[in-house]
Amino acid sequence: MAEINQAGPAFPLTRLRRNRKTKWARELTKETFLSPQDLIWPIFVQEGENLEEHVPSMPGVVRYSSDRLVDAVAEAADLGISAVAIFPYLNPDLRDSIGSMATKSDNLVCRAIERVKAQNLNIGIQCDVALDPFTSHGHDGLLDSDGEILNDETVEILCQQALVQANAGCDIISPSDMMDGRVGEIRRTLDKNNFNNVQIMSYSAKYASSFYGPFRDALGSTATLAEGSKATYQMDPRNSDEAMREIALDIAEGADMIMIKPGLPYLDIIYRTKQQFGVPTYGYQVSGEYSMIKAAVNNGWMNHDSCIIESLIAFKRAGANGILTYFALDAARLLKGCS
Ligand code: PBG
Repeated sequence: MAEINQAGPAFPLTRLRRNRKTKWARELTKETFLSPQDLIWPIFVQEGENLEEHVPSMPGVVRYSSDRLVDAVAEAADLGISAVAIFPYLNPDLRDSIGSMATKSDNLVCRAIERVKAQNLNIGIQCDVALDPFTSHGHDGLLDSDGEILNDETVEILCQQALVQANAGCDIISPSDMMDGRVGEIRRTLDKNNFNNVQIMSYSAKYASSFYGPFRDALGSTATLAEGSKATYQMDPRNSDEAMREIALDIAEGADMIMIKPGLPYLDIIYRTKQQFGVPTYGYQVSGEYSMIKAAVNNGWMNHDSCIIESLIAFKRAGANGILTYFALDAARLLKGCS
């Protein structure tokens, strides 16, 4: 990003419209470039074979059984998408108050990772570390008898969760739980177990946001979480300096990549992160952002293709290296001109 000291001589010598006159001139003077390689596709997996179950609050998004998931990931790889982030939908009877399934090496997400990995595709596999898909209450951590989230006890379990995922072949571990100190503990656990090349993309500045609503439907945690709030661990949307402290700590603890979440409402945080730290920085265009665009498009109020691309370009313009988006397949097809 250049510092602009001089706009040029005054009009009429300077006419900024000259560079906008033709398509080729606009291409030649563009400042931001979006490619399928910038994209990470969040994707949902459930038990069963040959299944695709629609998520009603996310039109166009499905939960795949793992055989179908493999096909979907292969398609993403063909389109040049860099990574997929796999999220499990657990049957409710497998969830309990301590998220026991999270640390089982044969759980749904580990089996899905193994199945995808066996294909040797040229695409990265990323997984969340957090307990919410596995807990009966829908929180990301353990609760004490007063309903408080226990930080250090949760971190110990998260380390075990990271380990079973790395063991299954996960390339990027993504702590999304917002416990204090978890990045450092996970790094140490991975390194101790010879996973020193497994990357960590930390959800460093993850806000307590209402824009996650449709995702919680997809994961089946909306009802269980009920009125429960994640405000004691996720960040207050009013804060920006605090986000910089979270990010500085995660970098110091060994995070390879930093994520900001949600996306479009928090572009100022992405911009600030890139300016201040210059680290690989990613934005998550979350479920609510996806569903807002889809709802408007399905009502005929906005154009699908151009809104997708414009919204993703905005992340790049703010300084993001890449974007997690449910539009990844659509966007990659559009960018390749094959839609
Ligand atoms: C779980 C998690 C959430 C999202 C990603 N990982 C939800 C939450 O924190 O409640 C949100 C993703 C989205 O809304 O698209 N820790």
